[in-house]
Amino acid sequence: MIEVIGLKKYFSLQSGFFERSAQKIRAIDGVSLTVKRGEIVGLVGESGSGKTTLARVILKLTAPTEGAVKIDGVDITKATAEQEARMRAEISVVFQDPASNLNPRQTVESSIMRPMVIHGVKRAEAKARAREAMSLIKMDERYLNSYPHQLSGGQLQRIAIARALVLRPKVMILDEPTSALDISVQAQVLNLLLDLQESMGLTYLIITHDLNVIRYFSDRVAVMYLGKLIEYGLSEEVAQSPLHPYTQGLMAASPILDPAQRGKAKHLMAGETGSLIDLPRGCRFYPRCEKSDARCENSEPPDVTVGRGHIVSCFLYEGQSC
Ligand SMILES: Nc1ncnc2c1ncn2[C@@H]1O[C@H](COP(=O)(O)OP(=O)(O)O)[C@@H](O)[C@H]1O
Ligand SMILES: [Mg+2]
Repeated sequence: MIEVIGLKKYFSLQSGFFERSAQKIRAIDGVSLTVKRGEIVGLVGESGSGKTTLARVILKLTAPTEGAVKIDGVDITKATAEQEARMRAEISVVFQDPASNLNPRQTVESSIMRPMVIHGVKRAEAKARAREAMSLIKMDERYLNSYPHQLSGGQLQRIAIARALVLRPKVMILDEPTSALDISVQAQVLNLLLDLQESMGLTYLIITHDLNVIRYFSDRVAVMYLGKLIEYGLSEEVAQSPLHPYTQGLMAASPILDPAQRGKAKHLMAGETGSLIDLPRGCRFYPRCEKSDARCENSEPPDVTVGRGHIVSCFLYEGQSC
């Protein structure tokens, strides 16, 4: 459904007008990832690791520097106008901040109708579909006449989800959809998303830094660190036996809801994430890694497949591929 192939996205950082060799921010630096139909893939990583940029490239909101993104086999940069219009209807997005999803001066109804108006859906049909969308997100139709400031964060995020559904997409990209919400509301919104995914057969790419979302929500997980994927596999497997020292640190540092696991010593990772401009020559995680050796400093680690599509990018597993 979504294929990301050798994707790179660099931003140039111009410090002066006459600066010739502008420095590059390597926000995405060679990412390949496949999301299959009907699957929920979680993308985790610290802030600044390039997650939103990846989502924006997939949504064609920004062009890649190198590499390709295919949606249903069609390369997004080479799509015809007709293919592009279809793609825009097939993939929708919900961003973290409900306010950025909705126009403050428009009623909920206008906001929900807008994507349909853009795609040429007739007004009467669009109105009917807006009401239908309200029932999907389990909100009363009277909220269609509300303005964003009259609604709570959880309600706004539901409306954003309704708006993302009206073109009947196949894929939804959810960029930290619950991070801005109160803890008590987060589970409700996640459960709603899960119900919709099942009943409508949707495919999700969910971006989060909450590992519990990954544990209980997604089928597979991709871990991103400074613009690269460093581990990928079935959520269960990655959560239970993380391989990359960074993933191990993440798992150990996150509060665990599973009572059997509680009480285990927490081990917080030392050090700063590092900069995307001045990246280490070898492994990006090397300066923070307790298990590193000379190889890690000087060369990029290999991608090793360690069973059932579990891939880790680390020298520790070199020679263990199957
Ligand atoms: N339009 C832009 N111009 C310059 N730098 C950007 C731009 N968008 C993102 N970045 C940089 O790219 C890096 C990754 O950002 P982002 O994708 O937002 O990370 P995440 O979503 O994982 O927090 C950050 O260092 C950010 O400052
Ligand atoms: Mg982000």
